[in-house]
Amino acid sequence: MPGRLPQPADPVRVNDYDRIAEGYSAATEDNLVNAYYARPATLALAGDVAGRRVLHAGCASGALSAALRDRGAVVTGIDASAGMLALAGRRLGDDVALHRVDLRDPLPFDDGAFDDVIASLVLHYLEDWGPTLAEMRRVLTPGGRLIASVDHPIVAYTFTEPRPDYFANTSYTFDWTFEGRTSTMRFWRKSLHAMTAAFTAAGFRLSVISEPQPDPAARELFPDDFQALSTSPCFLFFVVEVPPL
Ligand SMILES: C[S@@+](CC[C@H](N)C(=O)[O-])C[C@H]1O[C@@H](n2cnc3c(N)ncnc32)[C@H](O)[C@@H]1O
Repeated sequence: MPGRLPQPADPVRVNDYDRIAEGYSAATEDNLVNAYYARPATLALAGDVAGRRVLHAGCASGALSAALRDRGAVVTGIDASAGMLALAGRRLGDDVALHRVDLRDPLPFDDGAFDDVIASLVLHYLEDWGPTLAEMRRVLTPGGRLIASVDHPIVAYTFTEPRPDYFANTSYTFDWTFEGRTSTMRFWRKSLHAMTAAFTAAGFRLSVISEPQPDPAARELFPDDFQALSTSPCFLFFVVEVPPL
């Protein structure tokens, strides 16, 4: 794909998911935050997806894609990381079409090709949501849905000191280490209003803003972390819709 993927000559490879693909995938397979909170919350918002054409944007190693497929969706996965896509391919075989796509570039799909776009924990890597949301809207059919989750602003804005201007579009970096391999990730913070305004500017209608609870099944598995996660926000979830014709 043409675009802005980090080149080998870059002095710092920010958001290098290739470097941590194996470790990230293993760590998030059965953990509290992904397996018992983010994925079930997204699936609950999606509801019955049987027969729906779902674009999973930022599919990583495909855990959520697999759950959507198991519920009868016809899933296409896209991600910027070749390493993540290789893991997704190993998990999903021929069940899910996988493409290497940077979400800052035009999407290689026809207008109206999907009933749902699921962008789970990926939009907060983007400085400007506008072009990406416009593309997501384009590939959705009238009445289609974008289901998205991002870092909750309360967490994002209290993560660094001094605290930034809440209303400014600011970024911070954070080193993620999995299995001894470190990658510097850059996350973009947006106010709640900036997020909802970006959705509506792209032509979406707000349907749901959700601050879900973790799956109760995790209470016994992760007693301390469950208590923390169930009493403070972590991610923010949206369902926005393309108006029907
Ligand atoms: C935190 S993981 C999300 C995993 C999955 N959506 C889930 O919720 O289980 C973020 C994924 O987004 C991908 N990503 C980050 N920036 C991207 C971009 N600009 N274009 C496409 N994918 C991107 C990363 O490679 C990574 O696989």
